[in-house]
Amino acid sequence: MSAFFVTATGTDIGKTFVTAGLIRHLRRLGHKVDAFKPVLSGFEMDGVKASDAGQLLAALEQDVTLETLDRMAPWRFTAPLSPDIAAAHEKRSIDFQALVSACRVKAADRHHTLFIEGVGGVMVPLDARHTVLDWMVELNIPVILVTGSYLGTISHTLTALSVLSAHNLNIRAVVVNETPGGVSMDETMATIGRFAPGIPLCPLSRTTRQDVVDEAMATLWRAVA
Ligand SMILES: Nc1ncnc2c1ncn2[C@@H]1O[C@H](COP(=O)(O)OP(=O)(O)O)[C@@H](O)[C@H]1O
Ligand SMILES: [Mg+2]
Repeated sequence: MSAFFVTATGTDIGKTFVTAGLIRHLRRLGHKVDAFKPVLSGFEMDGVKASDAGQLLAALEQDVTLETLDRMAPWRFTAPLSPDIAAAHEKRSIDFQALVSACRVKAADRHHTLFIEGVGGVMVPLDARHTVLDWMVELNIPVILVTGSYLGTISHTLTALSVLSAHNLNIRAVVVNETPGGVSMDETMATIGRFAPGIPLCPLSRTTRQDVVDEAMATLWRAVA
């Protein structure tokens, strides 16, 4: 079994898109795959299909039921805010140790390749004391960092990589996911590569073409597996 943590430089960068793409790719290769998106804010039952949990369940070809939803995304909050604040709006909080334990239980399943999707960026708070970074450090599983190609991404990406490395996390790949209206992918990737040598950089075009996504996912999987 192998488990990967999919994080990003921020929210809406492409974590779910990449995770769903990897799930579909591995399923096509005949691998057993599972996914976990334990912390989900901005969740409304009305929009369940389009939610991260709905998208990941669709990639796994599982129906959306209360049971599969609870299994995929047990910590769901309505407000589209950072999880600590979204939880506080509901007079709830995330039990960090319970979150880590739930991930460890999933990762212990030796029959599946597991993708855990984080929430927001690398240092989004989960409670009063812990961020996504602490969560990744506790799990200590390989990390896939998703970044964009917008003006500003180079600094965001290098900052994220610096923090991940400083905490001895195993960064398997950076996915440079094309931002609509962003700057040159080639120049962005070349610059990130110059400052972060040795880390595989995988481009992903903004596209609705499944074959293009498949090819990018095949390259990404070869880099991370
Ligand atoms: N490479 C891509 N091509 C087309 N649409 C994309 C791509 N990457 C992300 N998107 C879309 O951009 C939006 C944000 O991506 P998402 O994966 O949900 O981000 P995150 O999980 O990091 O918050 C979604 O609507 C998603 O479908
Ligand atoms: Mg997401």
